[in-house]
Amino acid sequence: MIPSLSRAPALKLTRPIVLVGLMGAGKTTVGRRLADKLRIDFYDADEEIEASAHMRISDIFEAYGEPAFRDGERKVIERLLDGPPHVLATGGGAFMNDQTRALVKEQATSLWLKADLDLLVKRTAHRNHRPLLRTGDPREILDKLLKERAPVYANADISVDSIEGPHHKTVDKIIRTLQEYKKAGNPL
Ligand code: S3P
Repeated sequence: MIPSLSRAPALKLTRPIVLVGLMGAGKTTVGRRLADKLRIDFYDADEEIEASAHMRISDIFEAYGEPAFRDGERKVIERLLDGPPHVLATGGGAFMNDQTRALVKEQATSLWLKADLDLLVKRTAHRNHRPLLRTGDPREILDKLLKERAPVYANADISVDSIEGPHHKTVDKIIRTLQEYKKAGNPL
């Protein structure tokens, strides 16, 4: 049977795609759907950290502090990047770490999933599992983090706006952007 065009993978990759961006940008949800569409595996760095530490991220922050978490995060990302092409959603702070960012830049295609403050606040409001948002007013914290982190996220190879509304629209936009990126002669 000849597979229909819509079932064919949209792109053939030689390296992982790593999604970076703030909490609430949609990295996990969009990343999962993107991987599905590209017919490759999906990993979520936060989930992998929790699985290897047998602890929740909030408990790791509380018991060992943020620097220890960042160290574990780097090791987990390093391990994942060693595997075949896949989509990897990273936690919002991962790309801020110089060593992690260097690893990602060297071994993967990095994609900044951008969202404005209102969308980030809205998307993070319904859950209370993020330790950094528990320390004060979430809007103020996200505003501060956005200002601090945007110039670093801007080092990602590609940036795509996270659209409010159905996630498949953002996924389609990412695929179009990746196709253009490849057409322009960039490694993918
Ligand atoms: C963090 C973001 C979280 C998680 C941890 C720290 C951050 O991941 O890694 O709570 O520093 O922005 P998400 O971006 O997936 O929420």
